[in-house]
Amino acid sequence: MSILTLPGLIDPHVHLRDPGQTHKEDFYSGTSAALAGGYTTVLDMPNNAEPITTLERLEAKIASAKKQTVADIGFNFGTLGDNFDEFTKVIDKVSGLKIYMNVTTGNFKIDANKLIEIYKAWPGSKTILLHAEDDVSEIVLKTLAAVPKKTHICHVSSQAELEFVMRAKEKGLPISCGVTPHHLFLTDKDAERLGPYGHMKPFLKSAKDQKFLWDHLDAVDLIESDHAPHTKEEKDSAEPPFGVPGLETTLPLMLTAQAEGKLTQKQLLEKLHSNPAKIFGLVTDDTTKVEVDMSERTIKNEELLTKCGWSPFAGRRVVGKVQAVYLHGSKVFEDGKVLAQPGSGQIIA
Ligand code: DOR
Ligand code: ZN
Repeated sequence: MSILTLPGLIDPHVHLRDPGQTHKEDFYSGTSAALAGGYTTVLDMPNNAEPITTLERLEAKIASAKKQTVADIGFNFGTLGDNFDEFTKVIDKVSGLKIYMNVTTGNFKIDANKLIEIYKAWPGSKTILLHAEDDVSEIVLKTLAAVPKKTHICHVSSQAELEFVMRAKEKGLPISCGVTPHHLFLTDKDAERLGPYGHMKPFLKSAKDQKFLWDHLDAVDLIESDHAPHTKEEKDSAEPPFGVPGLETTLPLMLTAQAEGKLTQKQLLEKLHSNPAKIFGLVTDDTTKVEVDMSERTIKNEELLTKCGWSPFAGRRVVGKVQAVYLHGSKVFEDGKVLAQPGSGQIIA
């Protein structure tokens, strides 16, 4: 068996649903899935059942994570544009601020006219993460030009969205972007086949859009899984929620793409490790590493540790299965099993 050793991966965009929707995922199952996917650090999103828009809710979330997490975990704060008093109270406890400018899970979309006020109110230099699809790119550009705070555009999915980021970078604006594995490996054709299991925001795009992302991978700063678990029952309901899990499938998909010559190992490590560390100010550690068995295999729902128990990539042939994970020198995962005690991961500010 050939083993590849990588540094612990960093995913700045996961939805672990805890507290409030722990039937979908919780901090133990979500960070177990992270380890199984080679991630030792994740940043959680604020669109919980009760959005994380106050210090009190953030503290409740951190308390829950402290008891359960088996990976290092940080938190992005939330806003609907009406909680500016909370910003200074939480700034030392969060990794960034997430703003939703389009409809998605949690009904958490802001009034676009408030964007500039939110930018002005956000203290210090921690990154602002935007869910900003093509239709709102002009307002983002204007806001960034007026208040140039460090901004990360989440899950860029189309040619138009990536061109927007490329233009903003050319203008010297402090912008970065991520793409998800589902936008790199699935298209609108797969959405037809997968039905609700291929239903997420942003929607899957055309093969032409997908090709543009691959052809301009150097303009993409990082890969973010946007791990968004929902139960099969919810997905099979009349109004399926948006979102697909991704923590356990992203690394094998990217390693498979590397084996096919679609990117280099240097690019893979930049996008799954060093760029997320830089953009979100995370410190990495040489004793935090992942050993990957590079044999070929098929992705199977039954092998997943995410509580939702399914993947839009089930049935796919890939190379790479995480064999062992070391976190700050301790072996925390081996042969499909979590060895770490719940609560042994670190809380990151
Ligand atoms: O598909 C999505 N699901 N996109 C998002 O922006 C949110 C996420 C979720 O929380 O389920
Ligand atoms: Zn998300």
